[in-house]
Amino acid sequence: MVKPIIQLEGVNKEFGKGKNTVAALKDVNLEIEAGDFIAVLGPSGCGKSTLLHVMSGLEAPSSGRVLVDAVDVTLISERDLPKVRAQKIGFVFQSFLLVEHLTAYENIESVLWPRSDLTKTEQENRTLSVLREVDMLERRDHFPKQLSGGEQQRIAIGRALVNDPPILFCDEPTGNLDSKTGENILKIIAQLNRERKMTVVLVTHNHDIAKFAKQTLNMKDGVIR
Ligand SMILES: Nc1ncnc2c1ncn2[C@@H]1O[C@H](COP(=O)(O)OP(=O)(O)O)[C@@H](O)[C@H]1O
Ligand SMILES: [Mg+2]
Repeated sequence: MVKPIIQLEGVNKEFGKGKNTVAALKDVNLEIEAGDFIAVLGPSGCGKSTLLHVMSGLEAPSSGRVLVDAVDVTLISERDLPKVRAQKIGFVFQSFLLVEHLTAYENIESVLWPRSDLTKTEQENRTLSVLREVDMLERRDHFPKQLSGGEQQRIAIGRALVNDPPILFCDEPTGNLDSKTGENILKIIAQLNRERKMTVVLVTHNHDIAKFAKQTLNMKDGVIR
């Protein structure tokens, strides 16, 4: 069997203490193979974002193991975690989360600034190539406020790609977009899975969106079925 690129073993995540404890993830066991495109479908509050945060090391599980590309992210030191995350995972959010005072180009390139292994020219070339890939080359000098929601999300996808990670996590990536624009964004994500062979995990509460994935997992009250 192919070794899974993401593996969760007995993962629990609780928020709060005592009577106010919320169990956001309950004994989640999951294996995702490299190159897969998974949609995690479930109602608001069922634990989808928490699942992505735990899988990406943004949040530590209360118990259990999380292996990403054979590395247990729960064991990585806080100091090393950002670097490991940058190498392995691109993240796309519902609200784009672009930096307002940076241009489209700079929003993407800024991800590469900490990388001493790339020259300035290499950083520029990579940024331009990613801008081309998301079809935003002509808008590269615009600031986020000057772009439509769909254009902002293209830039956010470019930013998630520029380190060339094997995994892409998308948290309701079309939640703030009209359906036609959302469909175009989903086509880009599907293309990244097909052509770049990225492993994609996309969470959504929308059944129509799940159709773009190869496989759907249903989540309810912190449990994956
Ligand atoms: N930082 C937090 N503190 C307390 N409770 C949280 C926190 N994050 C999420 N939760 C709770 O965990 C549950 C799952 O939330 P979330 O993963 O955001 O769900 P979804 O993304 O499916 O809407 C919800 O009950 C939510 O209120
Ligand atoms: Mg959420």
